[in-house]
Parts: sequence; structure tokens; C-alpha cells
Amino acid sequence: MAIQKVGVVGCGLMGSGIAQVSAQAGFPTVVRELSPELLEKGLKGIEKNLARLVEKGTITEASRSEIRGRLKGVTAIDELKDCDLVVEAIIEQLPAKRELFTALDSLCPPHAIFASNTSSLTITEIAAATKRPQRFVGLHFFNPVPVMKLVEVVKTIATDPAVYEEMVNFGAKLGKTAVRAQDSGGFIVNRLLVPYLLDAIRALEEGVGSVVDIDNSMKLGCGYPMGPFTLLDFVGLDTTYYISQIMFDEFKEKRFASPPLLKRMVLAGWHGKKTGRGFYDYADPANPKPMSL
Ligand code: 3HC
Repeated sequence: MAIQKVGVVGCGLMGSGIAQVSAQAGFPTVVRELSPELLEKGLKGIEKNLARLVEKGTITEASRSEIRGRLKGVTAIDELKDCDLVVEAIIEQLPAKRELFTALDSLCPPHAIFASNTSSLTITEIAAATKRPQRFVGLHFFNPVPVMKLVEVVKTIATDPAVYEEMVNFGAKLGKTAVRAQDSGGFIVNRLLVPYLLDAIRALEEGVGSVVDIDNSMKLGCGYPMGPFTLLDFVGLDTTYYISQIMFDEFKEKRFASPPLLKRMVLAGWHGKKTGRGFYDYADPANPKPMSL
């Protein structure tokens, strides 16, 4: 059965982006957040993005109205009961995700497909909280979701091949390039990205170069859109620390181990751009000041 209606759980940075691209792609989309305040914050972000698209002439005023018409923000989980696909983008904590999917499992019709946007948790373990592991995949999007052209479609040993193909097609319908990944810690992107980011921190700790010089090296020498420290601040140091711990736990390899500096920064509450301080200080957002060791 083709996907008609999409549910998104979580309207934070990732969930709001997923809901936006789903509604933009023509799917009636219900996005659920825990509180009216958090929901409003997420929906405001979508409004801002749509306004930018209208301003640039990427979409017309009429299509903005249609997109808004397809998008419904809710706080009650019951509103997801008639969705054909539910994509979860809530906090990166296994118990919270398992609890959510157990509830969704009794609420949603048997044909509904479930997907998690987790960046590092094992899809198999989340799916095991439901009675439909064969209808469960990972759909890992990238920040900012409306801009980044990739989605990793993650298959577990239990995923039904037909469900998997349907999800690869769904990724394409969202205008993304869907890559196929196995349910291995970090999938494809974070398997490569996380050791790179951690190595940049190790290079800084060892005095190989400064924050700005390491950033400029990768930006200008390799054509990366952001240097590793700008990207770390953008992704969140707490998020990177958490992912690295999960990946280290899975592979027991040094390249996934958190450098002491990252741990100290997370403990100090320096989580990157969102807290105003990470490898750069964003007191003046137009002119971030790099950290010096
Ligand atoms: N939401 C929506 N659109 C946005 C946006 C946002 N938050 N930020 C920027 N944009 C749009 C702009 O409107 C602009 O659109 P246009 O080309 O149609 O005019 C376009 O993106 C480019 O933006 P800017 O000119 O303002 O700035 P940049 O050229 O520096 O691009 C960037 C910004 C797209 C964020 C770019 O710097 C980039 O690609 N950075 C790397 C991002 C990245 O690596 N993301 C993946 C992180 S890893 C991850 O998410 C996985 C997780 O598991 C850790």
C-alpha cells in the first residue's frame, strides 16, 4: 500500500525539517510535539523557511498555502492513528524511543510503517519494542533537513524487503538521494564523519593547529562547506559526544573514543551554537570568536 499520510513525532530541529519536506512533497503530514510551546517553536521555524522560499521565488504564495494546508501540528499522539508512515525524531534516548513506538504500535493500523531518524542508536533494538519489526526502518536525515540532499535508509535483519523498497522510494519522493545502509553503528555518514570530527579535536589538543587554521584547512584545502569545528558547533557537542559513546561501545575502537576536551566542553555546558558557546563563542553571532587553548 502506498504512503498516503505521514506522521512525524518531534518538532525540533530535525522533526520540523522532516515535516516540512514531507508536506512540500505533497503528503498530508501530522507533526506531534509534547507541549504547545515546543510545537509552536518548531512550526515557526517551518514558517520562516517557507517565507524564505517564497521570497527567493522557489515556491509561489499559492503553493505555500497548499503546504500549510497539508501540515497539521498536534500534541495528542492519538492524532497519528491513521498514518501510513510514522517518522520519529525525538530525543536520542533508547527508553524514550522504545516507549513511543510501543504506544504507536497499538495505535496505528497494522500496515503502517515505522521509521526512526536516530543517528546512532541501533534500529533493531528500537524496532524490537514493537510487534512489527518487519515494518521498521531507519530514515536518517541531515541538518538542515530542507537543504541537505541525503537520506540514509537503514535496513535491519528483520526489515521486509518490500517495505524497505517503499522507504527508498519515499526518500526519493521527498527529493532526497536515498542511500542504502545496514543497521551498523553510525550507518554510513557517521561511521566516517564522527572519527573525522574527533580527530580534529585530537589535532587541536595536540597543538597541530588552531581552531581557525584547522577549520580553514578543511574548508579551503578540501572544499568542505564548513570546517570541523564550525560543523561540531552546528551539530552540537553534546550530540557528537553521545554518538561517539554509542559508536565506541559498538566497535570498541579508539577512533570512536571521545577526546577528553570534548567531554570537558560538554560537562561545562558548551554545546555549540545552540548554547552560544562551543569551539567558537557566539556572543556576537556575526563574528564568532574561536577558542584558544
Ligand atoms: N534551514 C533551511 N534552509 C537553510 C538553513 C536552515 N537551517 N540554513 C541555510 N539554508 C539555506 C539557505 O536559505 C540557502 O538557500 P539558497 O541556496 O536556496 O539561497 C542555502 O541553504 C545556503 O545557505 P547560506 O548561503 O546561508 O549558507 P551556506 O552556503 O554556508 O550553507 C549550509 C549553509 C547548507 C548549512 C552549509 O554550510 C553546509 O552544507 N554545511 C554542512 C552541513 C552538514 O554537514 N550537515 C550534516 C551534519 S551531520 C548530521 O546532520 C547527522 C547527524 O547524525 C550528526
